[in-house]
This record gives sequence, structure tokens and C-alpha cells, in this order.
Amino acid sequence: MDETPDGTLDLEALHAAHVLTQRARFDRALSACGYSGVIVYSGPLAPIFRDDQTYPFKAHAWFKAWVPLVDVPDCFLYYEPGRTPVLLFHQPADYWYKSAATPQAYWTPQVDLRPVADRAAARAALPGNLGTTAYIGALFRELAAWEVRTANPRDLLTRLDYDRAVKTSYELACLRAANRSAARGHRAAARAFASGASELEIELAFIRACGAREQELPYNPIVALNESGAVLHYQMLERTPPPALHSMLIDAGAEAAGYASDVTRTYSYADPDFASLIERFDEVQQTLCSGVHAGADWRDVHLSAHRLVAELLHESDITSCDAEEAVATGVSSVFLPHGIGHLLGLQVHDVGGLLRSPEGGEIPRPEGHPYLRLTRVLEEGFVVTMEPGIYFIDSLLAQARGDTRAARINWTRVDALRKFGGIRIEDDLAVTASGAENLTRDAFAVERE
Ligand code: GLY
Ligand code: MN
Ligand code: MN
Repeated sequence: MDETPDGTLDLEALHAAHVLTQRARFDRALSACGYSGVIVYSGPLAPIFRDDQTYPFKAHAWFKAWVPLVDVPDCFLYYEPGRTPVLLFHQPADYWYKSAATPQAYWTPQVDLRPVADRAAARAALPGNLGTTAYIGALFRELAAWEVRTANPRDLLTRLDYDRAVKTSYELACLRAANRSAARGHRAAARAFASGASELEIELAFIRACGAREQELPYNPIVALNESGAVLHYQMLERTPPPALHSMLIDAGAEAAGYASDVTRTYSYADPDFASLIERFDEVQQTLCSGVHAGADWRDVHLSAHRLVAELLHESDITSCDAEEAVATGVSSVFLPHGIGHLLGLQVHDVGGLLRSPEGGEIPRPEGHPYLRLTRVLEEGFVVTMEPGIYFIDSLLAQARGDTRAARINWTRVDALRKFGGIRIEDDLAVTASGAENLTRDAFAVERE
């Protein structure tokens, strides 16, 4: 992971405190669910059907929650309350592939690290009787014979997922570093776009500036030129630029020590009207960021985003009704058909966003907003994205044109804007007692042009 610019971050101390928190959370959850310990798996190297190749490896989030070991399959972490976690580190004798070297890093003092050659050796290093042990991770053939009490028990995972929303200081440091890396990537991508590059070339510029390979990113970058910006998770990466360039929507994040950033920017190529719409939209996004604080109900944040975006739609002559009417009639959802943000951490869409309590239960989404991924009241330490958007999506516009919403939309204006696809601006926010730290804007400020 990157050090802070002044090099003062004491990662060893931060990680030690993080593991103490992790242990306390596991202690509580294991005791409440009646387990004596837990095995957490890093994940298997998955083979491609009838091939000797494998899919890119991604370590499981619950494993990364303990150790930032993102690229070694078939490792197991065994934790029993009151004892140092044991890391069974997969180190096969293999001359086809290079085995990972035994790590020595800021995080290794927190684990009892034992190299194991294979799953059989891992099993032998675990307690003989696993009848009161829980297992977390993907299932594999030999696991049946291990006779753990339960694999992936729902009650245990629910408690752990619930707690994971609150980040430790170590996790916040990782998320800051992931944002700095993404900011470098975004700067390079913007330069590539300005020089007329294709979607693929822009993506490669992003990856190169992050210093990562594609599988080390938290999600595949969304690089959408022109009308492709209307596809929310556009994935094509065209090899040639379109004949005329209008806009770029780039949603791309990086990872640091297994933690994700999730960042979107939108650019006009040369159209001043679209550029000023982006500028006004950026002000709206910043207003929304300034409303984030501990105690805020994310469902209210989402609904107020709809109202603010609807005001901008009206002001920009895209709709002809006021904001309240646009939200009440579903007109705002034609242009903003996704949730305003989500939890972020070890996964880009982090777990537990709808949980009512550590025991479970779901906090329902507001009616008419089925894609909201977070409905909880924010607490200090939550990290969320703030990602309003305005899109010109053919299928949603066609539906609106056929019903009562049609009269509330200025179709001439919409038709003129379709070639730009849409606007999304997305920052990552760490919630504090009185507001939020904008990890993304801070990162862009450090990673200047
Ligand atoms: N990059 C996916 C999202 O913004 O949620
Ligand atoms: Mn997001
Ligand atoms: Mn995103």
C-alpha cells in the first residue's frame, strides 16, 4: 500500500489495532451463535471448463478483512477467541508456477503464519475436531470430510456483515490510498480522452497510471464515450474512437491492500453547453456530499438527491415540471434510475447495506426505488459513495414517452442531449460525527495534473 505523501503512516500499529477490532467483532459473533472458532478461506483458483487455464483469482472479502493477502489462493485463517489467528499460508512445491514467498510485512506480526503445501496439510494443521467450528468461504470437495459444524452460517455472517460497515482507522488509510491510486488513473484517462483515444486506450491509460493489472482492480473500468454513457455498467471497451467525440463517462476504481475505491467523472469533449451542465451537476453532487453525516438516514439522502437532480433537470430545461412533481410522478427516475450510493470497503458494493440489526431483518427501500443498496442510518466510520447521475437512456425514455410522464419532459432538449449519454459524478465519503471526509476530492487534490 502507498504511504501517505509525508511517509508518516504507521501501518503496523494501524493494522494491529484493526485486528484487535476484528477479533472483538468475531468474539461477539461467534459467542452469540455458539461457535468455538472459525476458519476463513482465501478462495480457490477456479479452473475454466475443460481447460488447463484458470479464472483470475480474487481473494474473498472476509479473508482480506484479516490480512491484505489478495493474490494467494487456498490459504486458511483459523481464529479461536483469545488466541492469535493462525494463517495457513499456501506454499506448494511447484515448478510450473512460482509459489508465493513467505510474507514479512506490516501485517505479519498479527498472525501465526504457517506455510502449508496443500489442503491436506492445512487440514492437518487445524484442530482435530471441527465440530464446533464455523467455516466462511467458497465450498470445495474435501471440505465435507473436515466435518465443520456449519459452512457459511447465516446468523454469524449477518452479525459480521453488520459490523463491517464501520471502518477501522487502518481501513480508512487503505481507502484513502485506493482513492489516491484511482485519482492518478483518472488524471491519465482524462488526458487520453482529450487526445482522442479509444475506450480501450483510455482504460489502459487508467490501469497503467494505477500501476495495477486488470484483475487487481475492484471492478472492470467503465469507459463510455458518447451515448454509451447511458449504459450504467457499460463494459464494451471499443478499440476505435467514434468518428465524432462528444463526452466521456469513466467509472473506475483502484485497490489498496484489498480495499476498493469507486470513482466516476464525466467530461465534455468540446461542447460548452454540456460542459456547463456537468459543472452545475458537480455543484449538486457537492451539495449532496455536504449533507452526509452520522445520524442521516440514507433513504432520506437518496430522496433529497432525487429532488435536487429534479431541480437541475427543470432549470436545464430537460423537464417542464417542478422538482416535487418530478419525484412524485417518477419523472426523476427516468433520468436517475439507480441508488444514490452504497457502502464501500473490501467489496465495491459492500455487504450489510440493508440490515436492520446485527441479528438481521431488512430495512425496506423507499417505494419506487428498487435499486437502492443502502437503507441504514449512517454511523461514524461508514464509507459510502455519493453518485448522482442524469442519463438519457433510450428504453426508459421510450416508456416515459408512452405514458403520463411524456408531457413533463422537454423532448427536443432530450433528443439534443442523447449523444452525450449521461453524467455521473461519484466520490467516496468517510462519515464523521459532524460531516464526511471526501476521500476522492482529497485524493485528486494530492494527485495534481
Ligand atoms: N462502479 C459501480 C458503482 O458505481 O456502483
Ligand atoms: Mn458506486
Ligand atoms: Mn462507480
